[in-house]
Amino acid sequence: MSDYAIRIEGVGKTFGGVHALRDVALRVRAGTIHALVGENGAGKSTLMNILAGILRRDKGTIEVFGDPADFASPVESQKRGIAIIHQELALAPDLSVAENMFLGDLGNGSMFVDWKTMNRKAGSALSAFGFNISPTTMCGDLSVAYQQIVEITKALVIQDCRVLILDEPTAVLADPETDVLFDNLRKLKESGITIIYISHRLEEIFRIADAITVFKDGRTVADLDPRSCTEEDIITNMVGRRLEALFPPKPERDPDGDVLLKVDNLTRSGVLDNVSLNLRVGEIVGLSGLIGSGRSEVVRAIFGIDPIDAGTIEVSGKRQVIRKPSDAMRVGIGLVPEDRKRQGGILPMSIRENMTMTNLEAISRFGITNARAERRIAQASQDRVKIKLGALNDALSSLSGGNQQKVIVAKWLNTDCKILILDEPTRGVDVGAKAEIYSIIAALAADGVGILVISSELVEIIGLCHRTYVMSEGVIAGELKGGEMTEEAIMRLAIPKRRVH
Ligand SMILES: Nc1ncnc2c1ncn2[C@@H]1O[C@H](COP(=O)(O)OP(=O)(O)OP(=O)(O)O)[C@@H](O)[C@H]1O
Ligand SMILES: [Mg+2]
Repeated sequence: MSDYAIRIEGVGKTFGGVHALRDVALRVRAGTIHALVGENGAGKSTLMNILAGILRRDKGTIEVFGDPADFASPVESQKRGIAIIHQELALAPDLSVAENMFLGDLGNGSMFVDWKTMNRKAGSALSAFGFNISPTTMCGDLSVAYQQIVEITKALVIQDCRVLILDEPTAVLADPETDVLFDNLRKLKESGITIIYISHRLEEIFRIADAITVFKDGRTVADLDPRSCTEEDIITNMVGRRLEALFPPKPERDPDGDVLLKVDNLTRSGVLDNVSLNLRVGEIVGLSGLIGSGRSEVVRAIFGIDPIDAGTIEVSGKRQVIRKPSDAMRVGIGLVPEDRKRQGGILPMSIRENMTMTNLEAISRFGITNARAERRIAQASQDRVKIKLGALNDALSSLSGGNQQKVIVAKWLNTDCKILILDEPTRGVDVGAKAEIYSIIAALAADGVGILVISSELVEIIGLCHRTYVMSEGVIAGELKGGEMTEEAIMRLAIPKRRVH
């Protein structure tokens, strides 16, 4: 019996002309949590997809628990005990939680689906994992965080895996949910499960990982021991250079400057209750809170995606009625939405078109798109956030997860709106690009743009924003300014009052 659950040597993979993997090695000891890190496009997901039988390698060897493996399909990989939770959520939105968990296994070979048993099993699996999610809820009605949890539970409990691959599981989770996930991962490890863990949040890796492998440009560049290495060591290996500062200095702003956006008593029955906030010229303001606290709902209401029952919105002192996103855009509000896959980007369209879509006015005259201007804007965006891609004409879907995010964020950073709302702008983005996005946000603010940032990462709120609102259960629980913003102070406001003992 091998010590290694997974042993990968010399694996390579190309897509057309793109070398996704040149030569990677990865040795994962059984019963450990092994972190896999690397910049966007380094090849992490590609290797995991090979291990999960979704892609076929071009060269190299793979052993699973000491036996050679060359999976032609996901089913073959599952039979050897491997389960993968993808970076992009894979649940069917129109099916219930229980149906999604048992998908592919619905009737147990007969025409008869035992709904009651299925719902009961799904419900108890979820509560064993620490979450109170109803098995009959439609997955499309769940937040992305809860969808992720359903997927993880499915792999663990229903597929009964021995090796669990998590491709950026916490990108959609806020800190308390991450704590719950980590408790569960530690328990799984104790019970002998091997976990391969991909994340761009380096502080998490020190909390959870027993070993770290760093990929760069399709190669393994380092195997590090989290007990003896530093965050600096990981970043230097990942990026190939030292990173000066993650957060730029906060731009100067006038605390009594003109109010760009004033929201008063925004109410949506059962969702938002009397939400009031404001945003001044050149300000970066956070919207913090747990998942489900109403943060995204506030910005959806402001942007005219969801209807409101009461409340007013003023832009630069003028009352505006916003019924649809085009109303919001007309008065100078831009939004980078949370679920970028569904709302932000158009996967089959080219990277170039996706980047410049919101900027149509700048590049088209009399309705005719100016191809040269379009290319110039796309090139500038690519340079700014350093997107790893083959050609700007390739489809957005050919990019790695993090690089897709960069394209969508870049597109909005191109617009000339005065108010920019960013919902989790750096989710899934590598540290180098994170720093880049932060400095673009700071530069926009220095130009007078007012920026409202939703983030589940407290360090991001504290490092980037002048002040933050904290939401809890659909209301603004408080506001913290400057030095008042600490992780503890934010969490104290974010946690629903009835849960405080
Ligand atoms: N289907 C595909 N067609 C063309 N190129 C692809 C395809 N899938 C991946 N690639 C390319 O292979 C490279 C590695 O991508 P991969 O998704 O493995 O990166 P990653 O390390 O998971 O990055 P991220 O942190 O952004 O998720 C990227 O340059 C990507 O554009
Ligand atoms: Mg990936």
